[in-house]
Amino acid sequence: MKYGGWSQRIEKVEPFHVMEVINAVKRLEAQGRHIIRLEVGEPDFPTPVPVLTAAHRSLDLDQTRYTAAMGIMELRQAVSAWYQRQYGVDIDPARIVITPGTSGAFLLAFGILLDPGDRVAISDPGYPCYPNMIRILGGEPVAIAVGPEHHYQLSPELLEPALAHGLKAALVTSPSNPTGTLIPDAAMAAVIAMMEHAGGRVISDEIYHGITYERRARTALEFSQEAIVINGFSKFFAMTGWRLGWIIVPPSALRHVESLQQNLFISAPTLSQYAALAAFQCEETLKKQIEEFDHNRLFLVTELRRFGFMIPVMPTGAFYVYADASRVLQKTGYADAQSFCADLLEQGGVAVTPGLDFGRYKAQDHIRFSFATTMENVREGVARLAGFLGGSLPRQTR
Ligand SMILES: Cc1ncc(COP(=O)(O)O)c(C=O)c1O
Repeated sequence: MKYGGWSQRIEKVEPFHVMEVINAVKRLEAQGRHIIRLEVGEPDFPTPVPVLTAAHRSLDLDQTRYTAAMGIMELRQAVSAWYQRQYGVDIDPARIVITPGTSGAFLLAFGILLDPGDRVAISDPGYPCYPNMIRILGGEPVAIAVGPEHHYQLSPELLEPALAHGLKAALVTSPSNPTGTLIPDAAMAAVIAMMEHAGGRVISDEIYHGITYERRARTALEFSQEAIVINGFSKFFAMTGWRLGWIIVPPSALRHVESLQQNLFISAPTLSQYAALAAFQCEETLKKQIEEFDHNRLFLVTELRRFGFMIPVMPTGAFYVYADASRVLQKTGYADAQSFCADLLEQGGVAVTPGLDFGRYKAQDHIRFSFATTMENVREGVARLAGFLGGSLPRQTR
């Protein structure tokens, strides 16, 4: 029997390389090895108790059917109140749509924006799902190399050449995954103005808002009501598995978002929506946790620099350090970050993510370290890294 092939679009979708790291971690753990996990992209503290209590109550009330496509109104109102408290901006709850994770929100955003071949600027390094989601919806990701001189963020001067060839949208992620850096306010304002002037839009991924250390992050909605803002409960609220996010769109897009949400998802998970109503009461507890992450951040950056890793811009958000390992690789004789990370895991018992997951630009030289864990784990990870570096003899290019 002859079966048909798969789409050309799916052929271009790349898997997460970090999944290979995670598979290797699982294999080693199954052999009884203890691994320090600095590769993960989620807070390792539990869902706040009031959220769990609200979830239990929701189940007791048998709130288990679909909700309205746009989400339950109480939650949309709670999100709106959050914008007033956090940023002092008034957002009509009607413009807030509750989605299955921010991942769902991205499908909606790209779905309402993109026609075949439409170009979307993204930063390289950046979150690996963006280009894949853009491609699967027929668009064309335009990766723009961003370095430390631009805080690893898009800027008007970096966007200019891409814009000359037409851009439907530019995607800003601040704080960024993998670099943990924030876009300067002036750059955010200028990028939005530039895109809107050219008839395009900015999509702002604000999933790491609330996890900032030196200054708070500003929402794109403080700069323009035409910006598309995406955020959710996974990171600051520590609710990754609840699969809940939101998208805020201008009124002109609401009709389209609603029909796309109906067609793609029907609605976001009901239980998660009712549970999330309690999340906003947990702000103080969650902020304390972020203070813990701050200690991890300062310790990890200091130690990595001591080992010869270069971190030209201090990460001030999220829970990642994106370190330039080129000197360390040279000293230890590794050809690239992937082989270094593979050996660090096998021999040193520390899992980290090679830069290749986040794009092409100098990816072979970079490693992402996540510090979304306990100080004890970070210390142990650093001690093991020191042991690995001390023991790794200069070797030939592999
Ligand atoms: C920058 C960025 N955006 C979006 C997501 C997806 O988050 P969610 O769990 O809300 O789908 C992640 C997850 O790691 C992320 O790092």
